[in-house]
Amino acid sequence: MKRPRSDAAVFPLAKPLAGRFVLYGNICVDCTMQVPSFPKEDSSLRAQSFAKKTGGNGANSCIVLAQLVRSKGTRHCVTLLSIIPDRKHSDAMFAITTLERHGVDTSRLQDASRDVTDVGLPTSFVLLSEDTGARTIVSSRCGLKEMDATHFQEALAHSKDLCWCHLEFRQPGIPQMLRALAALPATLGITAPVASMEVEKPSVEVQQVLPLLHLCDVVFFSSDFIRARAADLQVALGNCGDDWQNHGALRCLRAMATQASATRALLICPWGSLGAFALDTSSSDAFFQAAEKVEAVDSLGAGDTFIAASIFALAFGAGPQDALRCACTVAGRKVAQRGLENLAQLLPEMPWPHNGGDAP
Ligand code: FRU
Repeated sequence: MKRPRSDAAVFPLAKPLAGRFVLYGNICVDCTMQVPSFPKEDSSLRAQSFAKKTGGNGANSCIVLAQLVRSKGTRHCVTLLSIIPDRKHSDAMFAITTLERHGVDTSRLQDASRDVTDVGLPTSFVLLSEDTGARTIVSSRCGLKEMDATHFQEALAHSKDLCWCHLEFRQPGIPQMLRALAALPATLGITAPVASMEVEKPSVEVQQVLPLLHLCDVVFFSSDFIRARAADLQVALGNCGDDWQNHGALRCLRAMATQASATRALLICPWGSLGAFALDTSSSDAFFQAAEKVEAVDSLGAGDTFIAASIFALAFGAGPQDALRCACTVAGRKVAQRGLENLAQLLPEMPWPHNGGDAP
């Protein structure tokens, strides 16, 4: 069975999805120090606390999505696709243990030890400022290459239960992965999985993204990317007052939809403490949801939480407005607490029907 490819809105889905969610994205170790406020250069400061945790967009989103789908009591599986130095590397073991504790399937991670030995798991040093809740990240790949696009193809080659595939835009390989994903229904004889992509880094160029919009059902753009690329889209990010329809984020989404002649994807852009915007390119309908008013304690992974909660809501039959509402609620509550634990306990009542579904 085919999903609508243009003109008809993809969301809300006709029935809730069942099966395997596969998320491709980074996995790393986050070493977080909490400080009263961001330090001055060349100063010295004692941190109030230190925590070593599993991080990375892919890992974070998987951890949250696994919690959310489990709260529905259904037979869904959340699989992380990423690369690790070696299953026996101490940081990789640390990360795999966290992921498996949350019920994330780690069996399809690419193991780099077949090619190289002296590399580590990507590591981030994070300063969490207590006065603002803002996080400042310095990261290193520790010599580890990006996951191969061929590994993506091999990992999905027999995934007849695939219902949703999400990709973090990382260089290189995304176009190849998205094309492989588009070819999967014909090869495996399955319903086309929902395809989503996150464009987060400001260094990504608009021209790299536009040709990919046709291959996606949902695209998440970070506010950092929009701020960095608005000028390329000839959009001035001014103050729009109370007129959210005219907000710069939405004008950038519209500009990208026009330039790409996109008529299928739902484009989503969270905008920090303001809320989140979406543009359904099949109808040109725009959506806005105000953020929860919370005291910011820890914003590390809030964007990844927003994406996981959006995927969860859309997969279970939400339309764009309900998906934004769910995502803003879960992300807001994440910002109000430290870490990514127990986010499903705080899920709002879902207004849309759910039947648990069978695997496709
Ligand atoms: C948060 C995060 C962190 C990681 C950083 C860089 O979104 O995934 O966990 O350190 O981004 O990947």
